[in-house]
Order: sequence, then C-alpha cells, then structure tokens
Amino acid sequence: MAKALDGVRILDFTHVQSGPTCTQLLAWFGADVIKVERAGEGDITRGQLRDIPDVDSLYFTMLNHNKRSITIDAKNPKGKEVLEKLVRQCDVLVENFAPGALDRMGFTWERIQELNPKMIVASIKGFGPGPYQDCKVYENVAQCAGGAASTTGFDDGPPLVTGAQIGDSGTGLHLALGIVCALYQRKATGRGQKVDAAMQDGVLNLCRVKLRDQQRLDRTHVLEEYPQYPNGHFGEAVPRAGNASGGGQPGWILKCKGWENDPNAYIYFITQAPVWKEICKVIGREEWLTDPRYATPKARLPHLSEIFDEIEKWTMTKTKFEAMEILNEYDIPCGPILSMKEIAEEPSLRRTGTVVEVDHPKRGKYLTVGNPIKLSDSPTEVKRSPLLGEHTNEVMKELGYTAEQIESLRAERVI
Ligand code: COA
Repeated sequence: MAKALDGVRILDFTHVQSGPTCTQLLAWFGADVIKVERAGEGDITRGQLRDIPDVDSLYFTMLNHNKRSITIDAKNPKGKEVLEKLVRQCDVLVENFAPGALDRMGFTWERIQELNPKMIVASIKGFGPGPYQDCKVYENVAQCAGGAASTTGFDDGPPLVTGAQIGDSGTGLHLALGIVCALYQRKATGRGQKVDAAMQDGVLNLCRVKLRDQQRLDRTHVLEEYPQYPNGHFGEAVPRAGNASGGGQPGWILKCKGWENDPNAYIYFITQAPVWKEICKVIGREEWLTDPRYATPKARLPHLSEIFDEIEKWTMTKTKFEAMEILNEYDIPCGPILSMKEIAEEPSLRRTGTVVEVDHPKRGKYLTVGNPIKLSDSPTEVKRSPLLGEHTNEVMKELGYTAEQIESLRAERVI
C-alpha cells in the first residue's frame, strides 16, 4: 500500500535521540530517509549503552528504523560535493548538531537556498534565540530548563526528571509536525523554509498546564487541588505536586494488593465528579454521599488526602488488575502502574504494532516501540535500522557515481 510521505526525500543529519526520533517518524510515514554518518564511528549512539559487544546498541537501533545509512566526511571538499548533490535532490534536511556546526560545515541557509530553493531545513537546538542559544543540550537539561523538573516530584524532595524523554523525543515530534506543515505550505509557495524547534520550548509546551497554575497561584496564592492544600505552604512558584492530577479531576497513585513486594503494585485513581456516587458505593463509604464535607467537588478539595487514604484501604484489598476491572464497570477513570516488563509482554500492544519485534542481522530479535500514530491509509511496517554505511554504494549510484568513482572516494576516506 502507498505511504503518506511517498516520494519525500530526507537528508538526515541527525544524531543521538532528538533528531533521529523525528526522521524515524517521517520514515514510518513513507519518506526515504538517508542518514549521513561519519565513517568508522557513525552516530555516537551506535556504540553507547551496548548490551552486545561490537553490535549496534538498542539505543541506536530503536531510533533509526526504516532509514538508509551513507557515510560521508562532510568536512572533506569531495564529501561536500556529494552532500551538495544530496541537497539538490532532497526535500528536507534535518539536523540537530550543536549550534553553528552546520554553518561551519559550509551549509548555511543561504548556501542551501542557492543549491535548492525548495529545500526545507529543519533543526533542533537546545534553546531558541536568547542567553543560552549557543549551549549544547541533552534531555535532562531541557527538562530542567523547560519547567518540567521544578514541577515534578514531591514537595519535600528535590526537582525530578521524568523517564519520558519529553526533551528529546518530544521535540522530535514537534519538529516532525513542523516539517510536514512546511511540505504542505511548499505546495502553494514553491519555496522551502526553515523549521526550528528548541528543546526548552518543546518541554514548556508539554508543561503548559504548569504555566497555567503559575498564573492561578499569582492571583489566588493557593492551588486547591495540590497536595499542599489546605495545610501546607505555597511559595511564589508552582510547587511540585507529587502525583496530583494536572487537570480539574483530583487523582493520586494508590497502593494495591502486593505493594509490599512489587514496586509497581499501584493504581492511578481519579475521583471524577460524575462518578462520585459510584466511588462511594464501590469502596463502601455511601455515608459520604450525604455528608456535606464530601457532597461537592469544591467541598472535597480540603479533604482529598483523607479521601485517597480511605480509597486506598479498598485498593489494597485488590490487585491493580482486579481493581481496574471493578472500577471500569462503573466508568471510574483509573489506570494500573505498568512496568516495562508488563508492557513488553502485553499482547494488545503487539497486536496494534505499538510494540514490535524486529530482526537484526547482527543482534537477532529485539523489541521496539513501533509508530504510535496509526494512519488507516498508510500503515507502518517497522524495518530494522541500517548498519553503518550499508547504503553508501546504493545512494552514490543513485547520485550518478560510477563503481570506480565510488571505490576511489572510499580509498580516499571521503565516504
Ligand atoms: N563528517 C564530518 N564531520 C561531522 C559529520 C560528518 N559526517 N557529522 C558530524 N560532524 C561534526 C560536526 O560538524 C561537528 O564539528 P564542529 O564542532 O567542528 O563544527 C562535530 O561533528 C560534533 O558535532 P556536535 O553536534 O557538536 O556533537 P557533540 O557530540 O559535541 O554534541 C549534542 C552533541 C547533542 C550536545 C549537540 O549536537 C547539541 O547540542 N545538539 C542540539 C540539541 C540536541 O539535539 N540535543 C539532544 C541530543 S539527543
């Protein structure tokens, strides 16, 4: 079946995580992604966190599916010639080098436009224009600078980063949307454009509810759904909210049967107002229905911690899956805390292609996360990541180089 981005050619200058997640998505939607790497080492992640000696790491393989790999020394004049041909023939150049690196390679925006005015140049940097624009940035720096760390964790603990890679993979997603929009606009204008996504901006976008809360705090000096209310202290900035829900429906993580030995025997429980009656019934506290301290969502806010303590007495009598089954019968929103082991083994995620087993010539079979975005007319087929330089000959031939020229460039270590 045809794919959504059939015919789109991506010159992929990305490395590590943020950029590769973007180009992997585009490849899953059908774009031809040509990943340019340095001969010898390639993307640094090929060799990082290796679990099998001399085999591309899972870090690399899980971020670079469905791409082709070509090795080019971008700083060698003959290597630049190859790259210039690629710039002429591709639709999008994606990069996440440190600030200024692409310019230092000789590929300024002006030069790229000279070579191909239709080219879209998409970049991820740690920060947008401002005091930190020249800084190198990794995931956790972005989480800290984007507001996530100061608002994650418990009140009595330090700022905390989250395991979800919102700085890297989150910004990759933002960039992919920008690229698709630029491709769409190019249909009307005939021109390429620059697409910039800064990791700080991407994280802040995902933390927008916390900027909402900052302004509520400035005005009212209290956040009634936060665990600090009513007895704790509010300062000038949004505090860490523990496991409180970011929305208008109070929630918390509660222990389930087996929590003493299983670190993930917990459930997220939301006391959604429309099912308050059902919650009281399920946990056997029907007297709350007529008690004015619990009668309305507003009245319940100062009592949330006692309410959750009571609900927990009930959840501790059930496994997280038993609790889930019972609560779902009443449409009470809740979710089990799933471990990565449970997710890896979950059959429904395998069936939808969200968790996929891939075969790799050197590592054998491994699991990966497939495309989380499902298009009915453009199904994703996850193909293994390329070996370093696996497609160098193929791409060079497509660019018009003869076998002799390719061998000569290889001997000169240009490719
Ligand atoms: N041929 C020749 N040189 C190449 C090359 C190639 N095929 N590919 C890369 N290089 C060179 C670059 O030109 C650069 O050289 P320069 O510094 O002399 O200009 C050099 O390799 C290193 O690139 P750089 O991006 O600085 O890598 P780094 O390992 O020092 O830094 C990051 C890594 C991630 C910190 C940095 O790239 C960065 O801040 N990126 C933007 C934010 C980002 O995406 N961060 C998240 C990563 S998950």
